[in-house]
Order: sequence, then structure tokens, then C-alpha cells
Amino acid sequence: MDKIGIAVVGCGMMAQNLHLPNIKRHPSLELLWCCDVNTQVLCEVGEKFQPRKLTTDAAEVAADPRCEAVLISTTHTVRLPLIELFALSGKHLYIEKPIADTFDEMKKILRVCRETGVKTQVGHNRRAAPAVRHALKALQKHRLKPVAPRWRFDREGPDRPRLEGEKSTMVLLRVNDDYWSWKRWAFAHGALINEMTHFADLACCFIPARPIRVSTVGSRLANHVVTIEYDDGSLATIFATAFGSFGYPKELIEIYHNGSAIIVDHLMEVRVAGVVGEPFRTTFSVADDRHPHIEEQGIEGYYKRVLASQREALESGDNSILPEQPDKGHFALLDDWLNCIRNGGEPMCNVEVAAVPTAIILRALESEELGGQPVAISPSDYS
Ligand SMILES: NC(=O)c1ccc[n+]([C@@H]2O[C@H](COP(=O)([O-])OP(=O)(O)OC[C@H]3O[C@@H](n4cnc5c(N)ncnc54)[C@H](O)[C@@H]3O)[C@@H](O)[C@H]2O)c1
Repeated sequence: MDKIGIAVVGCGMMAQNLHLPNIKRHPSLELLWCCDVNTQVLCEVGEKFQPRKLTTDAAEVAADPRCEAVLISTTHTVRLPLIELFALSGKHLYIEKPIADTFDEMKKILRVCRETGVKTQVGHNRRAAPAVRHALKALQKHRLKPVAPRWRFDREGPDRPRLEGEKSTMVLLRVNDDYWSWKRWAFAHGALINEMTHFADLACCFIPARPIRVSTVGSRLANHVVTIEYDDGSLATIFATAFGSFGYPKELIEIYHNGSAIIVDHLMEVRVAGVVGEPFRTTFSVADDRHPHIEEQGIEGYYKRVLASQREALESGDNSILPEQPDKGHFALLDDWLNCIRNGGEPMCNVEVAAVPTAIILRALESEELGGQPVAISPSDYS
């Protein structure tokens, strides 16, 4: 079968570290274009990734009939005109998150994607990460057929009073970030809009209910606690700090539902209790292992790799050396999109799906402005 011709528009850090390497190793893709307004960036990616053509002008990409798909990895401040240009030219779109900065922008994006019918995938990649898929499967199994393990501590027996909300889900998402790693535009917009759509999206993956209210304590820039309420009584809390350390795993997700506890530790391991038949601990490997001699996988393997990377950074004086990253689902999300382009079906994070966490975070920004007052979320926010 012919390869899908693809262009990458916005060839900065994210494109160079993840999207371009993933495109180059994907057997169904041919990298036709790299497009960036910065000519120095274009020279770098031209040498490193050998696209067929380079351009500073997105219209040239839109006019190329061989180019079927476009991955937009500019910052969110310049997305709408590019999305309109490419969708109206019939190109399928992979769009980095967050899709929009305002409700008005998001509605325009929803409209043009619906009207043109192009296959869109929004880069909320964590929902495609192997550790998240594993946790979701365990949760789903328990949701559909909850079985109390025989060891469950039970004081009252079958006559115990029932609590309302037994079917609700509690989710805690803890993010340990270090603002020294931020770029200039991230300082201007803050982590709430830049990063938290990822975590609001994860909350929505684990809670199959309608978000109805959100409140934010703290500042949009660096430290915040965002609580999302759902119509079935479920709650998700995102606790994020920009004053942490990359010497410690960045992300911890805890999910509690009807006598079960499912913990996703930095996407490196999942620990499950209370779901009959599920292993207590399942480990995952890092995405690109620079230390294959370290046998341990999971969180223990991650710690060992952190220490090895810190040693290398110290010895070489190169502070850009970071430990390997967990598999955050970037390749799987790309693959899912390509599969839908070829075979039909809807990408797992199309604009309709991505509009929900985006709306939650846009309302969370309003709550921050109101000093933490809860703000309602209505279905019309994301439809
Ligand atoms: N999914 C993830 O895991 C993840 C992680 C980090 C960043 N991101 C997202 O990826 C996006 C890019 O982040 P980054 O860190 O690579 O930013 P970056 O600043 O390194 O790169 C953005 C690039 O876009 C180019 N650009 C800007 N306007 C353009 C235009 N009109 N046409 C063509 N090129 C243009 C810039 O010159 C720059 O090279 C952001 O939206 C960010 O939120 C996603």
C-alpha cells in the first residue's frame, strides 16, 4: 500500500524529540514537508530528518496534493489559522494540545473539523500510553463486574448500610514539574493551559460521567489544585507544582472505585488492589532505553536510570541530559490516527473528545480568576 505523505508544521522541541523520530520510524509514512517560520530550525530538521521539502510557508504544504496528513506542533497561540488552512485543503490533522485558548477559538476549530470531515487527532497522548491502557482495562473490568476479594475487610457483612456514591470514582493526579525546563512562551501562558489539559483528559478517561463544575486554587502559572466534579458524584483533583524536581518521577495517578485502588506511577508501573485476578504490580519499559544494562523496569528501573543520567550530566557538564522518558503514548496515538485515515473509524482523541478537557481547563482558568470559586461546565461548552 502507498505510504501516507505527511508534513510537520512547527518543528521545535516536541517535533524534534518525538514526532519526527516517530514519523521516520513509522512504516506507513513518508515525510514530505517540514515547515517552520524559523529558518534556523528548518536547516536543523532538514539535515537531521531529511524531509523531501522545507518551507516557511504553510500554504505551500496545503497546496501539495501528495500531502494527505499534517501534524501541527506549533504552540497553541498560532493554531486556528493553520487548522482552518489545512482542514479546508482536505488534510487530515494531528494537532498538539491544547487545541485552543478560548471558547470562541475552540468552537471554530470544532466547526471546521466537522464540516470538512478530516480525521483529527489531538495530542492528549497519555490516554494511549501502555500503562494508562492497562489501568483502564483493570478499572473497566471492575466496573462491569465488581467482585469483592475474599480478604476484603468486612465488619457488617451483607447487612451493612449502603453508601451513596458507591459507583463514583475518585481520581488524584499529582504532577511534579520543574519550571527551569520551561520555554519563554510557557512562562507567558502558564502550566494550567499548557499542561493541565493532559491531566483533565486523563481524569475524563477514568471517569465516564459528565463534568459539571470545576474549581481552581492557586495560580495558573505554576502551583495549582484543580478539582473537577462529575454528575455521578465522582471527583478528580489535579495537584500540580512547578517547583519540584525531575530527579523524582513526574506523574502519579491514583484511581479509587468501588473497593478497588489502581495506581499509575509515572507511566512506568501500575499497581492494582481490589480487582480480582489482576496482578498487584505490572511494569513498563522506558521509551528509548539508553541504559539497557539496567535490568529493572518499572519505577525501580526508572530510579536507576535517573541516577545514571545524573552521573552522566555531572561528568560531561551537560545539564540537558535527562533520564529516559516513560512511554507516554505518542507513537500509539500517531498510529491510531494513521489507522483511521487508512481504514476509517474515529481517532481515539478526535476534536470532539479533546473539546471536553479543553473546556474543563478553560472554565478552570475562570475559577482561578474568581479566586477559586467553582465554575459550572455545561455540555454546550464542548459541543
Ligand atoms: N504532548 C506532549 O507530550 C507535549 C509535550 C510538550 C509540548 N507539547 C505541545 O507541543 C507544542 C509545541 O511545543 P514545543 O515545546 O515543541 O514548542 P517550540 O517553541 O519548541 O516549537 C514550536 C515551533 O513552532 C514554530 N512556529 C510558530 N509559529 C509557526 C507558524 N505559523 N508556522 C510554522 N511554524 C511555526 C516555531 O518557530 C517553533 O519552532 C505546544 O503546543 C506544546 O503545548 C506537547
